[in-house]
Amino acid sequence: MLIGFMGSGKTTISQLLGKILAKPVVDLDQAIVKQTGSEITKIFNRHGEQYFRQLEHDSLKRIITESGILATGGGTPLRADNAEILETSGAKVILLEASGETILERLKTDCSRPLAKQMAKQQLLALKQARQSHYQQCADLTIQTDKLTPKEVVAKILASL
Ligand code: S3P
Repeated sequence: MLIGFMGSGKTTISQLLGKILAKPVVDLDQAIVKQTGSEITKIFNRHGEQYFRQLEHDSLKRIITESGILATGGGTPLRADNAEILETSGAKVILLEASGETILERLKTDCSRPLAKQMAKQQLLALKQARQSHYQQCADLTIQTDKLTPKEVVAKILASL
């Protein structure tokens, strides 16, 4: 399963990995969208972040039992109960890392992420920094992705399995 900050490449890498391993891929955000019929931004705007976090937790609990590749949301590992689910799932937890510069570049034109949309660059970088220890605590493997193509990232993951 893949964890990491927004824009670290979880969705892209999970799709590629799924193709190569011929395994189903679940994107936690997409599972929430499917279940609620609402885009993530709408959920944040209408009900607030806490409500979204509960949906995220409930979806994680439901989905973790399915075999396949899971791309979590950038905030998923922050809740202690979510971290425990990830750590005890038996699946390899892979942290995709990218520099603040890379993340800002990738998120520049993105309007689908409510937190990224409402934060100034410095705030976003501070959030990334504040989350780092949570990510690292969950991760079995960390991959620095800045200088790698998606295929190279996937090759590293495959070599570690
Ligand atoms: C969030 C990351 C998003 C999504 C939501 C909150 C976060 O997922 O779950 O907007 O708190 O970092 P991605 O990491 O896939 O963008």
